[in-house]
Amino acid sequence: MHLQEISDPVVKENHVLVQVHSAGVNLLDSKIKNGEFKIFLPYKMPLVLGHDVAGVITKTGSNVRRFKVGDEVYARPADRRIGGFAQLIAIDEADLALKPKRLTMDEAASVPLVALTAWQALVEKADLKKGQKVFIQAGSGGVGTIAIQLAKYIGAIVATTTGTTNVEWVRALGADTVIDYQTEDFEGILRDYDVVLNSQDTRTLKKSLRVLKPGGKLISISGPPDLGFAKQIRLGWPLKMIMWLLSFGIRRKAKRQHVNYSFLFMRAEGDQLSKITALIDSGIISPIVDKVFPFGKTDEALTYVEGGHAKGKVVIRVN
Ligand SMILES: NC(=O)c1ccc[n+]([C@@H]2O[C@H](COP(=O)([O-])OP(=O)(O)OC[C@H]3O[C@@H](n4cnc5c(N)ncnc54)[C@H](OP(=O)(O)O)[C@@H]3O)[C@@H](O)[C@H]2O)c1
Repeated sequence: MHLQEISDPVVKENHVLVQVHSAGVNLLDSKIKNGEFKIFLPYKMPLVLGHDVAGVITKTGSNVRRFKVGDEVYARPADRRIGGFAQLIAIDEADLALKPKRLTMDEAASVPLVALTAWQALVEKADLKKGQKVFIQAGSGGVGTIAIQLAKYIGAIVATTTGTTNVEWVRALGADTVIDYQTEDFEGILRDYDVVLNSQDTRTLKKSLRVLKPGGKLISISGPPDLGFAKQIRLGWPLKMIMWLLSFGIRRKAKRQHVNYSFLFMRAEGDQLSKITALIDSGIISPIVDKVFPFGKTDEALTYVEGGHAKGKVVIRVN
């Protein structure tokens, strides 16, 4: 990545212009930089990365009704409209929510992508209910820290994995069972789970099938993509077939175990983010920020996240 002067974004009628205070860093930024998602997110270079922002509205488009100049907001801008690693970004008002009052700008910028992922996995896809058992992998990561708190709020019984040094810390976040992935194997410990939120490699995905009870749901955010996802983002038939084939093996194994497999690629959604704002302001969910980097060190921030051991989230202070 290079730091560069570019022209101000165009503010269309449904857009607001946000002066970015802080920007959250996600592995998705690295994956797009490395070309991993070219097949369904064909970004053109040069590209401003950045999938999470918190800042202040400085201008509104003619059709904007819910926000005004001066509002403190946060968002995960929609795919193809990203660009949070910048001083200004134009965001569709449908993707925006008021920033939680309780949070600093840095904390707020850490929330949208991971909290929407947790919401769309546990509330939308899993329809997680009080008393159900959910296994959330990597409880000390960006998604895991929020997903544990959301699942506990729903009333679920939560198991998670993390490294040795984070075990007690993750337990304090609310997890009922914490498995040290460096010394223990979750497959031999967990039984009859209703839901697994998979965020790790293929081996972990396959093992996850065996901790579910019949009728359980395996939701993966780290692949492989499936036909439902291809339909969601309206891919053409050739790509639909590719997605169907990529997930064929795990779907077949899931069927044999009488469980359901689905892939989730989170989407921008201002209304859901507003519900998350309410949970944060009432103290139910608290984001965890591991490190804040200055704007000029965005590359370092990305490298740190790519290391795979961030404790919560990493944020860039832009302004
Ligand atoms: N599909 C989607 O919509 C979507 C959305 C968000 C994220 N994702 C993907 O989901 C994955 C997780 O994202 P994230 O932002 O939560 O990652 P992250 O914050 O970078 O995860 C880092 C955490 O993972 C833990 N960890 C590392 N190896 C582990 C293992 N083998 N078992 C359990 N925990 C382990 C680390 O704990 P230790 O330091 O203790 O090792 C660290 O705290 C990424 O692949 C990301 O791209 C997908």
